[in-house]
Amino acid sequence: MDFNIAIDGPAGAGKSTVARIIAEKLNMTYIDTGAMYRAITLLAIRHNKRDVKDIIELANQAQIKLSKGSIYINDEDVSDAIRSVDVNSEVSKIARIPEIRLAMVQLQREMAKNKGVVMDGRDIGTTVLPDAKYKFYLTANVKERALRRHREMLAKGEKVTLEDIEKEIIRRDHQDTNRDLSPLKAAEDSIIIDTTDKTVQQVVEDIINIVKRGEGIVL
Ligand code: DC
Repeated sequence: MDFNIAIDGPAGAGKSTVARIIAEKLNMTYIDTGAMYRAITLLAIRHNKRDVKDIIELANQAQIKLSKGSIYINDEDVSDAIRSVDVNSEVSKIARIPEIRLAMVQLQREMAKNKGVVMDGRDIGTTVLPDAKYKFYLTANVKERALRRHREMLAKGEKVTLEDIEKEIIRRDHQDTNRDLSPLKAAEDSIIIDTTDKTVQQVVEDIINIVKRGEGIVL
């Protein structure tokens, strides 16, 4: 495919599940940019670094790679480790550091330069790929997003309460929306989809139909 698809939205709106399926169906490459910020957060936690300068240095030294739906730090598969409660609670702080964002955005643009990617995040349509041919902004109410995250965490055996997850999501939304550099925001030319009462299949179908129509593919 000679176009890119940007999918943005808050935590728990269903972006990554939907983006992964769309990439598969359209034979495109899925890039989870949240996983990149999470990997750096994991590094910072493991090395017990709190200082911005130290975290930037760690990030510069590490090799972060996305491949076939998994994420690696220096060849170690950290796909599960980056979804921990600890990473959840720290990641917004790390994603606010301008030097980290600039480095990630550069990497993300590089990955998308040959087109054919479905990229999900918070600032893809506004900052990373403002020229993406298709831009979607997925959202859902906080209760529903908390429920989804809770189910995911329970399935992984993490012991967390729904109340804690809801608080965490509200806190993260606030931090992501109010940071100075490329905050969470729907691009003006994005299509907003409220997923609160939709199944994953319905959202996937909506997006695929829009893309097919745009590409002149008969449905
Ligand atoms: O989508 P996620 O929950 O895995 O994202 C983790 C965090 O990373 C989220 O709190 C915001 C941040 N993030 C970001 O600032 N920019 C992106 N493009 C993707 C994620």
